[in-house]
Amino acid sequence: MKGVVLIALKEMVQKNFGGDRLEEALRKAGINKEFSVLPTSDIDDQVFLKILNSVCEVLNLSLTQAAEAFGDYWINVYTQKVYGLFYKGAKTAKEFLLKMDSVHVTTTKSMPDAHPPRFEYEWKNEKALIMKYKSQRGLIDFMIGLIKGVGKFYREDLGVTKLGNDQVEIVFP
Ligand code: HEM
Repeated sequence: MKGVVLIALKEMVQKNFGGDRLEEALRKAGINKEFSVLPTSDIDDQVFLKILNSVCEVLNLSLTQAAEAFGDYWINVYTQKVYGLFYKGAKTAKEFLLKMDSVHVTTTKSMPDAHPPRFEYEWKNEKALIMKYKSQRGLIDFMIGLIKGVGKFYREDLGVTKLGNDQVEIVFP
């Protein structure tokens, strides 16, 4: 996983829950204090998951709750600073989500060894979109938290339902 995701996770824990909790979570995960991350660094997926599990443990959150906190932070705070143009280019949650497959390809193109998640889209009816998740990482709960964050950003009441480990149904208002 690219370092940018871990940087955002660390920032979310620090800002929303405090630096002490972040330090505790990193210590529990066996991460050295000097461990430094760049947005383009490669973080071993197992190390990322270990940190995520410690964050859940220290903050007493389920994985779903942590994924929602992360999704909200990534969409409404972190990427607003760094990737603001993507939001300017989409007027609705639907437009934004339909761009996500290409956004993941473009934003990781210049990062060697990136394995971005890919998405496929299938309309069930006029309002209901099935978004298929293609990644070996099994982070569908993150995907759901992120989609909810997108709904919040565009102030749209999205119906978000997990249909299994590789697809989500999104009902637009
Ligand atoms: C401007 C908005 C976004 C940007 C710039 C962005 C970019 C990225 C980047 C750079 C990564 C790391 C990829 C890697 O390590 O290979 C990532 C991971 C991820 N992104 Fe996004 N993302 C955005 C929004 C979203 C949204 C809305 C969703 C949900 C549909 C999403 C789903 C995910 C998931 C689930 C991962 C974890 C990696 C995986 O499951 O394989 N992202 N994203």
